[in-house]
Amino acid sequence: MNKLLKVGAEAKLSLEDGIVVKERISKGYRIPEIDSSLRKKRTRREASLLDKARRAQLKVPAVKDLDKDNNTIFMEFIEGEMFHKVMNSPLSKKLGSELAKLHDSEIIHGDLTTSNILVKAKDIYFIDFGLGEVSDSIEKKAVDIRVLKESIKASHPKDSGKHIESILEGYSSSKSFDAVLERLEKLEGRGRYKKKVNKNK
Ligand SMILES: Nc1ncnc2c1ncn2[C@@H]1O[C@H](COP(=O)(O)OP(=O)(O)OP(=O)(O)O)[C@@H](O)[C@H]1O
Ligand SMILES: [Mg+2]
Repeated sequence: MNKLLKVGAEAKLSLEDGIVVKERISKGYRIPEIDSSLRKKRTRREASLLDKARRAQLKVPAVKDLDKDNNTIFMEFIEGEMFHKVMNSPLSKKLGSELAKLHDSEIIHGDLTTSNILVKAKDIYFIDFGLGEVSDSIEKKAVDIRVLKESIKASHPKDSGKHIESILEGYSSSKSFDAVLERLEKLEGRGRYKKKVNKNK
């Protein structure tokens, strides 16, 4: 059976015999050489980060095959829901602790919106690692959380605060929790960091 799942901003996804086929498609507005190298780089990155995350005991789709010539990844189909559709406090806390595991394994997601997080049987799955990288950077970890916060605010404007709180509660298990939070406050131009700067003036 062959079913088109989604034609996204960067890729065409279909379900073929129970396997997700993600093919990065050509973008006409990019210079052809840049387009080709970006598609290659993101496809390789995605496959290698999925493997790395899986080795670190995180829940991600298993990579079944990689067709480098056609910028295509074949992966396990996660029959779940996008995070923002099923979000609740326990799931938000779990997302936070899973993100802590991801970051403590030196993996930056790079595009941590709620449509790149799936929930299946109360387990959190991260997908779409094409913009990710291997890094222990506090700044990059804080940016991941910032993107996630903005995405939750967009989908749940009324009660985003409590969900973000639960996520951070879960994330407090990360070895770099304090440093990341401080950097997040700095990125958002608020909080302790701002006060410190003012004090020094
Ligand atoms: N392994 C998978 N199992 C189940 N669903 C998936 C899987 N991979 C992707 N999807 C679904 O397809 C959507 C798009 O996939 P993905 O995020 O990898 O591509 P994308 O090009 O970034 O798409 P977008 O432009 O929407 O961000 C996901 O939001 C998810 O709903
Ligand atoms: Mg996506």
